[in-house]
Amino acid sequence: MNVYLETYGCQMNEYDSQLIRSILISGGYRLASSQEEADVVLVNTCAIRENAHRKIYSRLDQFRPVKKAMKKAGRPFVVGVLGCMAQNLKEDLFAHPVVSLIAGPDNYRSLPKLIDRAAKSGDREMDAYLSEYETYDDIAPTRVTGVNAWVAIMRGCDNFCTFCVVPYTRGRERSRSMAGIVAEVESLAEGGCPQVTLLGQNVNSYKDGSAIFSDLIAGVADIPGIRRVRFTSPHPKDFPRPLLETIAGHPHICKHIHLPLQAGSSRILELMGRTYTIEEYLNLVDEIRACIPGVTLTTDVIVGFPTETEEEFGETVRVMRQVEFDNAYIFKYSERKGTIASRRYPDDIPPDVKTDRIVRLFDLQRAISLKRNQARIGETLSVLIEGDAERKPGYQMGKTDGHITTIFPSASHLPGSLVFVEITGATQGTLLGKVVHS
Ligand code: 5AD
Ligand code: SF4
Repeated sequence: MNVYLETYGCQMNEYDSQLIRSILISGGYRLASSQEEADVVLVNTCAIRENAHRKIYSRLDQFRPVKKAMKKAGRPFVVGVLGCMAQNLKEDLFAHPVVSLIAGPDNYRSLPKLIDRAAKSGDREMDAYLSEYETYDDIAPTRVTGVNAWVAIMRGCDNFCTFCVVPYTRGRERSRSMAGIVAEVESLAEGGCPQVTLLGQNVNSYKDGSAIFSDLIAGVADIPGIRRVRFTSPHPKDFPRPLLETIAGHPHICKHIHLPLQAGSSRILELMGRTYTIEEYLNLVDEIRACIPGVTLTTDVIVGFPTETEEEFGETVRVMRQVEFDNAYIFKYSERKGTIASRRYPDDIPPDVKTDRIVRLFDLQRAISLKRNQARIGETLSVLIEGDAERKPGYQMGKTDGHITTIFPSASHLPGSLVFVEITGATQGTLLGKVVHS
């Protein structure tokens, strides 16, 4: 049978889809390159905000006529929902007429069996049990070759930020073995992959026996052939000084930290269960900048958390002005069923107020990103080439160590090459330059 897999959501889902491909191939399935050639369509989904759910429902609706046509032709057609939305909604998803298979993030080993049963019997099949142990440590992901490989080092989350559905969709925090991760990165390096990005819902809470995240990242960065190591997403609570020193001191560890702020008001941070005050967050920013000169900082912000006043939103504005993040991902609060916030705090900020706040932050951040990028004009930065620039013929693109997209006239370097680019221009999202040496 031919299986077509689509992926939505975060990098962890991208990684999981590579594990799923590997599991399916071992189970004797063929991977289809389009939905039209498939007997089975699997959708790996996200649940983080309501619009992620909406997107999946409208995608599922598109399979209705396909399912009808296949039925008429007497052929089985299985549509499966995987990932966070599957875990979040479980059998409620069977209310959608096309869905006949559900598998949560800890149940991908069951997929060959579930697909087989669903196709043969036409019955509905579901495995959506969270595990305290599953890390898929022994499964080699089926990767598409590129200049970056995602490597999940831990799964799940124990933080229970009150707004967040992830602890319910991905379960308890658990780390892979350091030996397993190092072996995986060694084999990636041998295959010519220059960059790995270590992934986890709480990546810097990694722990294997006495080894913590700073040990792992240093070990991975030392592997011959690995030129760059990135990581996402960390929590501000787990940045001990030795980790900052490791990042600062190792030439292969990228000087970019994604440091989710979420809100600028200590009262809102407390309601969010973030475990830091705004003063502590700002102290950490100062410490990071002092320890890692030239570091790029990016962040996540939520506007319109329940009870957020105009004044408290103003505190977020002030913090963003003060810190001047290189980039920020800004979201409107979206109530998620089952979360602590959904039980404790009614979603009382009107939609137009959330829209007004997000637009103001977008505008502010755009101006800050432009200013920060313009300040780089004249610098010479190392860029890992990813390929041709999409919208500019004759140009190539890559990322700086600080993760800023950079384009430059093609010097026909192969993707995966590290070159030095002198920055000559900047927009809010992109640097422009020329290769000065490689
Ligand atoms: N509503 C809006 N944004 C959310 N995020 C997580 N949960 C929610 C929610 N319920 C945002 C946070 C997080 C990022 C991945 O998504 O900012 O850091
Ligand atoms: Fe979405 Fe979070 Fe699940 Fe990633 S872990 S797919 S962001 S809900």
